[in-house]
Amino acid sequence: MSKSILVINGPNLNRLGKRQPQIYGYTTLAEVEETCRQRASARGWTATCKQSNSEAEIIGWIHDAIDVVDGIVINPAAFTHQSVAILDALNMFEGPIIELHISHPHKREEFRHKSFTSYAATALICGLGVGGYPIAVDALIDMLEDRAKKQAGS
Ligand code: DQA
Repeated sequence: MSKSILVINGPNLNRLGKRQPQIYGYTTLAEVEETCRQRASARGWTATCKQSNSEAEIIGWIHDAIDVVDGIVINPAAFTHQSVAILDALNMFEGPIIELHISHPHKREEFRHKSFTSYAATALICGLGVGGYPIAVDALIDMLEDRAKKQAGS
């Protein structure tokens, strides 16, 4: 186990803090990423945080993560609802994946009710605001540490 996780944020999330704050809040992406790094580090893990508005770049990061990082937290943003290509990339990743949404997509427009990427996700966190990120980091590390314990015991 490399004791490292990857946190990926998709399109428009670089604008967190300014983007529709009534939905996404006033916390910036830099603050969210720092919280993730600190939460992981407090548990002896490393969280690498990346954001892109480009589907191709996100797919490349998922490929690079295969066999290198232990787990992924991903907020695919709008790609959630349209990207079979990101789903296919996530399906190649063997570790646990937590899909996260700041808002509660099922309470919003109907096109947000469908998630392609959820087919590859181990778990889904949504509707907790940016407070979902440290919860996702903790849950992912819990899963990975539990798996490691089970493997060591078998
Ligand atoms: C989002 C929800 C998506 O529907 C939307 O396109 C986003 C953000 C969220 O975090 O709530 O960009 O993933």
